[in-house]
Amino acid sequence: MIFRDDEPRISTTFCSATCPFSSRRATALDLPMGRLHRVASEPDPDDVDETKRNVLKLLAVAGIVGAGAGGLVGGTLQYLQPPLIGIASYPRVQLIEVDGSPLTVAKVESEYSVETSDDTIFYYPLRNEPNFFLNLAPANGQAPSESNPGAWGVPGGIGTNGSIVAYSAICQHLGCPAPAISYYPPGTCSQTFNTGPPSPNSSPKQPFYIHCSCHGSTYDPVHSAANLTGPAVLPLPQVVLETDANGNIFAVGENGPPVNGHLNTLTGGYGVGSTVPLAKETPVILCSFPA
Ligand code: FES
Repeated sequence: MIFRDDEPRISTTFCSATCPFSSRRATALDLPMGRLHRVASEPDPDDVDETKRNVLKLLAVAGIVGAGAGGLVGGTLQYLQPPLIGIASYPRVQLIEVDGSPLTVAKVESEYSVETSDDTIFYYPLRNEPNFFLNLAPANGQAPSESNPGAWGVPGGIGTNGSIVAYSAICQHLGCPAPAISYYPPGTCSQTFNTGPPSPNSSPKQPFYIHCSCHGSTYDPVHSAANLTGPAVLPLPQVVLETDANGNIFAVGENGPPVNGHLNTLTGGYGVGSTVPLAKETPVILCSFPA
């Protein structure tokens, strides 16, 4: 309730001594001249509490600033973290020779064998995923045996005797890639392994394997690249190979665990094209096998 100076004020002058409210009203309304005065009364619904309004304004501004800062941080993190790249499915990719000619079963069986010492590498399905290309058949074309090292009938193997296979060339321990991890043909190291069936060369003395010079993990190319020595505990992923009617060789998929260092084998890099060439690498040989 507000009284102005020009409003008539009630005082004892206008209320006789018998007026029931005279003393109380005279005291209550004895106000200085020329000012506005607020007198305690029931809250006026039109009145605004300035303190509350300022607090609400402050909270609103803080919310807007906080939301803006959160968006800025989120946006920055989005750009700091690279987007996940990869491909949706395994492509059918033709393998080609170093000179660009199609890689055929006939050519592989005449030029590659269990004795081939240089690593033969191709990338699939991503450009940063190297793989070993191997023909485990004996060089002389004879059936493998303990005295004639090699393997026929390898799981997933293609070619006349099922001896042509491909495995990831990235170690499943801590990810050392070729040539730190390499194929060791017979006679490279004195170490041999009892690997068992299904290869005809299942004698207790298999002298060829894939070995990683970083920490000594060894894999058996005759048996789906299973571990022969640690510290790796997982096999190498195996590339699925196929041939067409002309004997041309294609990579069409992959079996086994994901390639080391990749969320799955299809993510973590860009896909290869419709053909991929073989490449030669000189292996890093280190005959170091855990006891
Ligand atoms: S990275 Fe190959 S054994 Fe450790």
